[in-house]
Amino acid sequence: MKPFSSRPLAEIPEDSVAGVVMPHEAAWEHVTGRALYTDDLPHRSAHVLHAWPLQVFSAHARIDSLDTSTAATMPGVARVLTAHDVPGINDYGDIGDETLFPEEVQFHGQPVAWVLADTLEQARLASEAIEITYTELPSIITTQEAIAAGQFQGPTGTLQRGDADAALEQAPHRLSGGIDIQGQEHFYLETQASFVTIDEGGQVFIQSSTQAPSHTQEVVARVLGISSSQVTVQCLRMGGGFGGKETNANAFASVAALGAVLTGRPVSLRLNRTQDLTMTGKRGGFHATWEAGLDDEGRILAYKAVLTADGGFSVDLSPAVVSRALCHVDNAYYLPNVHVVGRIARTNKTSHTAFRGFGAPAGMIVTEDLLGQAATKLGISEEEIRRRNFYTPGQTTPYGQVVSQASRMEDIWDKLLDTSDYDDRLRGITEFNARHPHLKRGLAITPVKFGVSFNKPVLNQAGALVLIYRDGSVLINHGGTEMGQGLHTKMLHVAATALGLPLRRVRLAPTRTDKVPNSSATSASTGSDLNGGAVKNACELILDRLAPVAAGMLGVNSNDVRISGEVVSGLGTKNTVGWTELVETAYQQRVSLSATGYFRTEGLYFDPSTYQGNAFKYYSRGAAVAEVEVDGYTGAYTTRQVDLLHDVGSSLSPLIDLEQIEGAFVQGAGWLTQEDLRWDTSDGAQRGKLLTQAASTYKLPSFSELPQVFNVDLYVHPTDDGSVYGSKAVGEPPLMLAIAVREALRAAAAAFGEPGQQVELPSPATPEAVYWALDHVRRGAPDPALAAE
Ligand code: MTE
Ligand code: MOS
Repeated sequence: MKPFSSRPLAEIPEDSVAGVVMPHEAAWEHVTGRALYTDDLPHRSAHVLHAWPLQVFSAHARIDSLDTSTAATMPGVARVLTAHDVPGINDYGDIGDETLFPEEVQFHGQPVAWVLADTLEQARLASEAIEITYTELPSIITTQEAIAAGQFQGPTGTLQRGDADAALEQAPHRLSGGIDIQGQEHFYLETQASFVTIDEGGQVFIQSSTQAPSHTQEVVARVLGISSSQVTVQCLRMGGGFGGKETNANAFASVAALGAVLTGRPVSLRLNRTQDLTMTGKRGGFHATWEAGLDDEGRILAYKAVLTADGGFSVDLSPAVVSRALCHVDNAYYLPNVHVVGRIARTNKTSHTAFRGFGAPAGMIVTEDLLGQAATKLGISEEEIRRRNFYTPGQTTPYGQVVSQASRMEDIWDKLLDTSDYDDRLRGITEFNARHPHLKRGLAITPVKFGVSFNKPVLNQAGALVLIYRDGSVLINHGGTEMGQGLHTKMLHVAATALGLPLRRVRLAPTRTDKVPNSSATSASTGSDLNGGAVKNACELILDRLAPVAAGMLGVNSNDVRISGEVVSGLGTKNTVGWTELVETAYQQRVSLSATGYFRTEGLYFDPSTYQGNAFKYYSRGAAVAEVEVDGYTGAYTTRQVDLLHDVGSSLSPLIDLEQIEGAFVQGAGWLTQEDLRWDTSDGAQRGKLLTQAASTYKLPSFSELPQVFNVDLYVHPTDDGSVYGSKAVGEPPLMLAIAVREALRAAAAAFGEPGQQVELPSPATPEAVYWALDHVRRGAPDPALAAE
């Protein structure tokens, strides 16, 4: 391995403050394989034990007996972990519905015991020697089965404004529909992984691929029956999280920590792909039914819907997912009369969890589905019907928040229509379609308005620790985690900007709970807003202490000290001193050179019982134009062109933001058009089994499905009230830009039939699904199967 110094530092610009274009801070490590992930660490330690689960392949069963005596004597086995070993609470959730070592199996493939052995293979063999008997119990697999059985969990919420029933009654046009929006597998490259060591004082040190180190720490402390101060969690980086490591890491960290405490040896637990797919939660599906009333111009007058989330076997984050879904059914549109119910079905599946967008995508799809169907039915263009429904300045959301920067949506819309040459292309497509009976193109434009902040106000806080050493070098710590999204890069930008230093003076230390406590999960796209606020605050606290020192050196007033590019200057003097000199002088004068920073988002409140509040600090916006071509014989399609325009405020790191927009779009398009999770819903022996257990049966987006032309732009504008240095969150919102692909497919399908037909499209809109949709349009009748749903 080449030494670290071979990194081409030249690629990092000298002036690397906020807004400068530079690659991800660890891009070099990522592409050369030097970047360390949790699972690289055990190989650097001796006497490591490896963990393998005993999974029970029944959707719902009561365990009658579990005999580990043979397994425990197998070669290499150090310990078999079962419920009897747990000194604290045998649960890794927050409300007691997620048993770590369960007596009742809740989903097909749930782990019930774990073997620790010298090698993974020994652990695997021993797990097969565990003798287990169980009794199968009745199970519920699909959301529809749960609805029929009345099996719900967690809170049911209602978002309400005006009188939806009365408005529906009076509306000139009434439409209704239903859709099953399927879930999605995170398929992060790095599967769930934890590596735990115990030091001589009994301190439990957990290296975990977790988006929420503080939460992981709390859960492990509860399982072990010790205090949080005895547990440290570190996250070096993740090979992707996408929401799948927001809570899902906790169970595995707990098992590894328990093993390490009981054996005194380091324990490594890393799931292989099949284990990860069968044991961890996914984006849950949503079953939605809706009714809408529209006026002649296509404006929505009344909106009623019931959204049922498939929560899987436990509540987990589903209440937050549902509340975000309800707070995003409006997307960019003013809904005067609304009645939307959100509830969580309980099914015998893995517990569904956070996934990029966190419920908002499902909420938006329902409304876009409605508008997409209304457009063809009322003979209004896809573009026009959406624009007519946009919020105008001063209007409020159904949850009572004034929509800030409302006119920005139309501005983004117009700019994108212009740059994508929308009108001309639409004309061209109409001509193309007239000439091609068996090949149709579709063009669509869709908007995204996404609220930024955790719906739960308390989570909108963050901490940081900034250390300045006597040589002038700076080390920053913050509570956020790096999962590839570039948070660390942005935090380096923030610290360098705040301190007036070039980036090479600032280093970033791995996220650790003993540096920054009580951090919120890095999620809801708030990572850079919250942690950036805290890093900036810490830097400013130190600058406040350095200013009088510099003022004394320069002979100016403290308020007149400026630092830029490592040079400390003062207003009204030509004198300057160097940054290092200032730091050393401060040290000599016994001025503290480290500070903890803190940030909380002001002005937030939200009452989940009434669904009213000022839920978000601001809105992130974007729009997408997609063009597809569909083959009428097979439903196969290609995405010919995609144009995205997205508002990131004043970008902290433009390259990172562009990458986030591209990645989120592709992930969204995968979810909506290709990725098709299937479970065995038969009454046979495999009932509840996840059938799509590998990349061979679960189609992920690859290069061949990328748009042939892919234009991504940041929305440029003069001022912004966003967050840190005017920047806006970017992680999740662009995922929903992919709805344009779905709507373009709908437009293409519609072109196979007579105008005026309502085109229903399942999600994901796989080629097969598109075929059936267009076939029914072609025959001039709605799909009876879809209509019956
Ligand atoms: N980008 C990469 N490369 N990998 C990821 O796992 N997660 C997404 C998004 N972008 C993710 C990503 C999700 S779900 C969220 S909430 C945000 O990043 C979290 O990071 P941020 O708050 O710093 O944007
Ligand atoms: Mo993202 S789903 O909020 O981790």
